[in-house]
Amino acid sequence: MKQVYLDTFGCQMNVADTDRMELLLFHSGYVRTGQMGEADLILINTCSIREKAEQKIYSLAGNLKPLKMANPDLILGFTGCLAQQEGERLLEKIPFVDLVLGPDGIEHIVQVVDEVKGKNGPVVRTEFDTEKNYSIPEFAGETPLHPGPSTFVNIIKGCDKFCTFCVVPGTRGREKSREALEIEREVRLLVSRGAREIILLGQNVNAYGKRGLKQAVPFHELLYRVAAIPGVERLRFTTSHPKDFTKECIAAYKDIDILANHLHLPVQSGNNRILEEMRRTHTAEEYISLIDELKSAVPDVALSTDIIVGYPGESDSEFEDTLVLIERVQFSSSYMFTYSPRPGTPAQDFPDSVPQSVKSERLQRTIELQNRLTREQGQKFAGQEVDVLVEGRSSRPGADFRGRNPHYWSVNFTGDQNRIRPGDMVKVRIEEVSGHALRGKAVALNRGGKRTLLEQGIPITTG
Ligand code: SAH
Ligand code: SF4
Ligand code: F3S
Repeated sequence: MKQVYLDTFGCQMNVADTDRMELLLFHSGYVRTGQMGEADLILINTCSIREKAEQKIYSLAGNLKPLKMANPDLILGFTGCLAQQEGERLLEKIPFVDLVLGPDGIEHIVQVVDEVKGKNGPVVRTEFDTEKNYSIPEFAGETPLHPGPSTFVNIIKGCDKFCTFCVVPGTRGREKSREALEIEREVRLLVSRGAREIILLGQNVNAYGKRGLKQAVPFHELLYRVAAIPGVERLRFTTSHPKDFTKECIAAYKDIDILANHLHLPVQSGNNRILEEMRRTHTAEEYISLIDELKSAVPDVALSTDIIVGYPGESDSEFEDTLVLIERVQFSSSYMFTYSPRPGTPAQDFPDSVPQSVKSERLQRTIELQNRLTREQGQKFAGQEVDVLVEGRSSRPGADFRGRNPHYWSVNFTGDQNRIRPGDMVKVRIEEVSGHALRGKAVALNRGGKRTLLEQGIPITTG
């Protein structure tokens, strides 16, 4: 078999796309290798969300040149969002590249690789799927044979929000939903092959099902349907947009036991003028009242967010509003960025009087505030027993396994290595909190509806 080396930058959508390419290529005779030097095909799945992401890819490309020079038969491809954004221009910037494929063309990876072989020259494929039916065509081929205990399932792709700073609507195209029946079918298959936690995936999952489906299915209904599939022990989704977060979604948190009590809801800024400039289509007050409503329905819900500081023209007091909002909501974690001007976005042309040093200072202050909140939130788990889905062995010294609790904190823990397996749901007593991670010891194991106590080395089965 031939060997393919795959590398992924960017978000979970890209991780899912890489997995998909691996699967499609496997069925056409390629096996994945971790050794770049041994590969017949190298695919770099790229991201262009911020300038830094883009720079990383160009510097990696520089490192790949000697490989390509040494082996002219090697096929070198760039896929994903930077590939989409640059298209033909990428051939000028990286002249030794053989293949440029946008995210909408992932399904055609095998044909495009064949085309490169047949043509003996570079192939650029960045046109969007032109059938304007706003639904994702049924996936051809297989789902993974060995999914991890926690598995992503794509439900929607693209984005129609057009926030002024963001490349995604340009790189991933219009929103398209996937038929609910097909999603359910995939979840059943994944569960039968070992998946326990399903994470519904999309840039904007709660815009799911608005158009394009044979029969409209609102996002909250999809939550109920997936949660009802036997064997799904935990359900999550990411990412949501505040504008599409309905009362029915809040009700779903109350109704669905296995819906993890964590919500990632990007807010970007706490200032209304900036939110409007960003075209986020909601105010800070609307965001806070949504959160208050959710907290009153699910009092211990953990919240995380994305923040951009130093948006063009952001004043000191506008920035302070963001800190006020973060403190008010009490996020357990945040992804925090300084604004990065992106090609093809409206904000790129906005006059920006904020010096880089001020942007960096604002980022530092935001990180410090969030670190304090994370510490405070983490203390709540100390001494508690939390449910952890075991995802695998831990790389942390002194810990045996790793996983996550429902609040999406990562948990490293010690436990009986003869009894605990990935995919198990264990009770872990938390002994230590550091950063956004918890440490502890497994005290009980729940498997197949049976609970086994693990303490003092003597397993006792109950119930
Ligand atoms: N679909 C999600 C997130 C998309 S990208 C949403 O609607 O929120 C992930 C995060 O990257 C964004 O939430 C934003 O905080 C950040 N981001 C996107 N474009 C950026 C830019 N030009 N500069 C800095 N951060 C950016
Ligand atoms: Fe980008 Fe906004 Fe779409 Fe999120 S909602 S992907 S930030 S345009
Ligand atoms: Fe990056 Fe594209 Fe995701 S730009 S963050 S890989 S949608």
